[in-house]
Amino acid sequence: MSIALLAGPPGGQGMESLSSHQQRLGALPAVPPALIDSIERSNLRGKGGAGFPVAIKWRSVASQPGGAPVVLANGGEGEPLSRKDRMLMEQRPHLVIDGAMLAAGAVGADEIVLYVGADHVGAIQAMHRAMTERTASERARLRLVSAPVRYVSGEETAAVHFINDGIALPTSIPPRPFEHGIDGRPTLVQNVETLAAVALIARFGDDWYRSLGTGNASGTTLVTVGGAVPQTVLIEIPQGMALADAVNAAGGITSDCDAVLLGGYFGGWVESSTAWGLPLDADALRQLGYSLGCGVVAVLPAGRCGVVETARILAYLAHESARQCGPCTFGLRAISAAAGRVAALTPTPGDLEHIQRWAGVLAGRGACRHPDGAAGLVASALRVFAAEFQLHEHDRRCSVASLAVAAS
Ligand SMILES: Cc1cc2nc3c(=O)[nH]c(=O)nc-3n(C[C@H](O)[C@H](O)[C@H](O)COP(=O)(O)O)c2cc1C
Ligand code: SF4
Repeated sequence: MSIALLAGPPGGQGMESLSSHQQRLGALPAVPPALIDSIERSNLRGKGGAGFPVAIKWRSVASQPGGAPVVLANGGEGEPLSRKDRMLMEQRPHLVIDGAMLAAGAVGADEIVLYVGADHVGAIQAMHRAMTERTASERARLRLVSAPVRYVSGEETAAVHFINDGIALPTSIPPRPFEHGIDGRPTLVQNVETLAAVALIARFGDDWYRSLGTGNASGTTLVTVGGAVPQTVLIEIPQGMALADAVNAAGGITSDCDAVLLGGYFGGWVESSTAWGLPLDADALRQLGYSLGCGVVAVLPAGRCGVVETARILAYLAHESARQCGPCTFGLRAISAAAGRVAALTPTPGDLEHIQRWAGVLAGRGACRHPDGAAGLVASALRVFAAEFQLHEHDRRCSVASLAVAAS
């Protein structure tokens, strides 16, 4: 499915050249004087996970003292289940660059850093080639930086820290990057999908962008659908489309399924009976207590145990903690260890109770939101897989077949 960002040559053809991009969409427009107002009317939200209103961030950056701002296009994409940012950069690098140029013009920035995960080799190559296709004056404002391969590298203060000092670890806030970022200058950190959407809004207007959504939702969103579908795919959907329709667009489910992981490792589990009808719209989901995160829909296949999968994700998140803040380092490690024992049917007394209690106090205790994401994931797992957790802890039994594989 390709509506706006992915419209144009099929993805299999690789990177769209500058000439094809300009033939299809026209040249990069001059920055419209009221671009920020237009972005506000478009209701564009950040696509990196938090869904923050884009226009509010731009106004804050534009009004900061402290020198000319910098734009950081965030293509770190450390989320293991997501493919959207790397594939967008591989296929439509010029949309990302156009969006970054427009953002720079709107906030008064004179430098753009394209921050791309070092393991996203195809994306790095495409962004690099796209830069060489640009004019000398555009190239002079662009810098390509490859981000270390770790989950927290894409967190905005970690990205700024890496660019400033070569250390991709989050720093304590305040100051936030919009106040004091790259080289101490106000820095607009924006996900690459967000910037690509800006490139289209500036060309076709906020009315057009809003009309792409379903119901009250505005625009489109990129979704990585994986798990119990024929293969992991990237689709672009009208924002607000029902989750079941997105899964069908990805080829439909390949097995029965009890739950869906919505939003990736930073999101949460949802019972499939509820999940199918949910609108894939960041605002609507937030009001319902869910998160679209970075647009991941992972369908738990039959034969996979939700407790085991949750323990596996927690082990990953504990390992990926930047180990700077006590609650994140020790709390996540303790929760992960307890969940691992429960998953492996070797619980020690009180493990489940400890997981519940520790998860309740983890959120908001780190310098960055890494532990908050883990806490949300645990809370959703305890709710959706409540019976399975009890079975694992009290009866030392798993009701699905994956345990032997997963615990071995
Ligand atoms: C642990 C952690 C990892 C993150 N990784 C990414 C990432 O890989 N890419 C990204 O765009 N945002 C990531 N974010 C969110 C960024 O901090 C930031 O909010 C985002 O880049 C802002 O862009 P947006 O408003 O367009 O979403 C991460 C946040 C956290 C807490
Ligand atoms: S909360 Fe965790 S990941 Fe974030 S800075 Fe602290 S130790 Fe690092």
